[in-house]
Amino acid sequence: MPIISVCSPKGGVGKTTLVANLAYAFSKSGTKVVVIDFDPQNATRLYFGVSLTDERGIVTIPNKDWISSCINVDRNLYMLPFGKSNKEQRAIFDEALKQPNYFKEVQSSLFDNPDILVIADFAPGYTQALDSIATVSNLQIVPLLADAASVSLFSQLLSGGLMDGLVGGGLGYYIVLNQIDNRIKLNREVQNFALTNFKDNLLGMVHKDTNVTEAAGQQVSVYDYNKNSAAAFDMEVIAKKVAQILGFDVKKGTMIINPLRKPN
Ligand SMILES: Nc1ncnc2c1ncn2[C@@H]1O[C@H](COP(=O)(O)OP(=O)(O)OP(=O)(O)O)[C@@H](O)[C@H]1O
Ligand SMILES: [Mg+2]
Repeated sequence: MPIISVCSPKGGVGKTTLVANLAYAFSKSGTKVVVIDFDPQNATRLYFGVSLTDERGIVTIPNKDWISSCINVDRNLYMLPFGKSNKEQRAIFDEALKQPNYFKEVQSSLFDNPDILVIADFAPGYTQALDSIATVSNLQIVPLLADAASVSLFSQLLSGGLMDGLVGGGLGYYIVLNQIDNRIKLNREVQNFALTNFKDNLLGMVHKDTNVTEAAGQQVSVYDYNKNSAAAFDMEVIAKKVAQILGFDVKKGTMIINPLRKPN
């Protein structure tokens, strides 16, 4: 531990973007990070320079020791792609995840490792992986867009009914409003609504910024692509806040798992 799950009822809201930028921020500042892609789209690897032709992934090795299958993609940064899969392989994988304590026991070397920060990316909506990881996840980050469709999701999140309570474990869930554009009135209103209603559970906001897309295309963090961009600033603020919530030692330029922290 710690384990961060980045999940959302909606697709295309910036889950993978947030996973990649958080992973780069933590690994560059000294923490060992393993990114795991639980989305059959198998696209998270493309943010980390894993080759398009590389078909390896957790879907074909459900009961093997995942930690020995991690692909080193950068200093302090490792990833486990979902892998190329067919319907039958995904069904077998989901069955494996249904084992009670799958993450606590079968994958304990990775999910019970005090020296590793795990950041997990999910397909949108309810999935078996999200259900199973709830047994170990410390923090759930839920990106949403500041648009009209998200407003209905806000009230469901606030009433605790969304995604069958899967975002309620550990330290709870935190919202990130992504792709904000202050020129749009509705967008400003949604931000105000979120600030008033989510209060401390609003982790941060990320501006709509073409540097995000360009950075993804170059397979680097938005900070490395353009450290003066609005999104780079936003992502850095969010990463520091996440580190503080998880009890990391945050110093200038470093965010290290606090060795004095009591294991949970
Ligand atoms: N702040 C931003 N500014 C501009 N573009 C963004 C921003 N955040 C994400 N995007 C773009 O939006 C698209 C969707 O982002 P991303 O793939 O991270 O979403 P997702 O929630 O992981 O989607 P899916 O549900 O399909 O997994 C990508 O093209 C990404 O580059
Ligand atoms: Mg995604």
